[in-house]
Amino acid sequence: VIGDWSSDVCSSDLRGVASTGTMAPEEVPKYPDPVKICCLGAGYVGGPTMSVISKMCPDIKVTVCDLNERRIAAWNSANLPIYEPGLQEVVEEARGRNLFFSTDIDAAIRECTIIFVSVNTPTKKTGIGAGEAADLTYWELAARRIAHVCNTTGDGSPKIIVEKSTVPVKTADAMASVMAASCTTTNFQVLSNPEFLAEGTAMDDLFKPDRVLVGGAETPAGHAAVQCLANVYRRWVPTAQVLTTNLWSAELSKLTANAFLAQRISSINSISALCEVTGANVNEVAHAIGVDTRIGSKFLKASVGFGGSCFQKDILNLVYLCRSFGLPEVAEYWNQVIVMNDWQKTRFAQNMVSSMFNTVSGKKIAILGFAFKKDTGDTRETPAIDVCNKLLEENAVLSVFDPKVTREQMYLDLGKEKMDKMQIEDDPYLCCAGAHAIAVMTEWDVFKKLDLQKIYDAMQKPAFIFDGRDVIDHETARKIGFEVWAVGKSSFNAGAK
Ligand code: UDX
Ligand code: ADP
Repeated sequence: VIGDWSSDVCSSDLRGVASTGTMAPEEVPKYPDPVKICCLGAGYVGGPTMSVISKMCPDIKVTVCDLNERRIAAWNSANLPIYEPGLQEVVEEARGRNLFFSTDIDAAIRECTIIFVSVNTPTKKTGIGAGEAADLTYWELAARRIAHVCNTTGDGSPKIIVEKSTVPVKTADAMASVMAASCTTTNFQVLSNPEFLAEGTAMDDLFKPDRVLVGGAETPAGHAAVQCLANVYRRWVPTAQVLTTNLWSAELSKLTANAFLAQRISSINSISALCEVTGANVNEVAHAIGVDTRIGSKFLKASVGFGGSCFQKDILNLVYLCRSFGLPEVAEYWNQVIVMNDWQKTRFAQNMVSSMFNTVSGKKIAILGFAFKKDTGDTRETPAIDVCNKLLEENAVLSVFDPKVTREQMYLDLGKEKMDKMQIEDDPYLCCAGAHAIAVMTEWDVFKKLDLQKIYDAMQKPAFIFDGRDVIDHETARKIGFEVWAVGKSSFNAGAK
């Protein structure tokens, strides 16, 4: 059942209800006001989310913890471990006032009422469900740590554990089981509060979310915990946008939202291939369908494929879940979104090879952009990895420029052997000098302003541009002499804009 439990109920009201005899008073704890909050996991989700909570609620102490000492040291320095527009200013304002970064996880768990769990949950690489199911190792370790600390503290203060990591549906159940089995003295509730922020726009998404979702048990104590967390968000998010649901609805909504968004991209990408062969222009098609208010204009940008830490992982979770529950047709339906995405990446690289006279062996190719989207240094599931791998298999010589991705990160993504065959440049013009082709992998704004003539003059001829993000001015490039191929537009020099 999805419902908005009377929004302004506070724990004392519920205690009042309890004393009327509809429930046992001890079932509904009184949470402190203001509550103290901590977050296990200082990553792309935990860091920005806690920073915004601390800015919007200056009276609430917020502690962000991580096992990784280097990461915490970076959060405490002028060089934050992640790049996110607007984040630095918020951290600098709140850090030391009511926002703290620490490796002392036990102390934070002990001190705080609301404990967010925002640890990594990558797709399993081995064992049952490999390639589909989520690896819950970090998540379970976090759960056990909370249970252990609560057990040894002995003060019995109530805890609200908030699942923030993307986890398969029913994981909150597992969290509750871990807690119940190893921690009998603490009154705890497990909530699901899925994160909908997108990297690159995380701060805006957190300050002005379309909605905040808080799921909890459908019991009086569950409702009280939901209200306690919802009240934190209500400090800056209009009440109508703070949705409360049962636990499973909240968990499944996250997977479903990401599956729907990714499906739109795969849908338009499938049409991009048809546009290329028919002479239609995918931007015109996307605009024409997007102005239909029933369809809407967002997430219809054809591309080399979607990346990021969420879409593929969440769809795979959904697929695994459907299979586990005996729904193979539903699993296959959603799996097709990934099949299409993989095909789009492969087809991009294959098209490069075939356009360049069926060989890229020994040819320098400039890769512009390595992040999975602009305004982030994150490379998780970035299409650039797949395209680079395919070009390297064809013995191309790669040169890469990205404004925010570090050399170390590329090293982790591609490995030493491949990195030895690549140059990493700090300057886009150096990256392109002497190249036979340019492949645009990320829609960084800086690529829109490149001096194409200067680049062309320093390249081998014929000079190719393969635009996977529609950021280059194709008409100007063609006038200069480039051979231009762009996703969803008719091929070389066919007059496509
Ligand atoms: C996504 C969801 O948007 C967010 O709500 C969720 O919490 C986490 O996953 P994120 O992965 O950070 O966020 O970025 P998003 O903007 O959704 O882009 C994902 C990928 O899709 C990127 O590679 C992007 O370039 C690509 N994309 C997006 C397209 O190719 N076309 C589009 O129209 C939109
Ligand atoms: P996300 O994009 O979901 O935020 P990240 O990988 O950026 O994922 O961040 C997850 C963080 O969680 C990492 O910095 C990792 O070190 C941290 N982490 C993993 N397990 C634990 C744990 N048990 N306690 C605290 N932090 C943890």
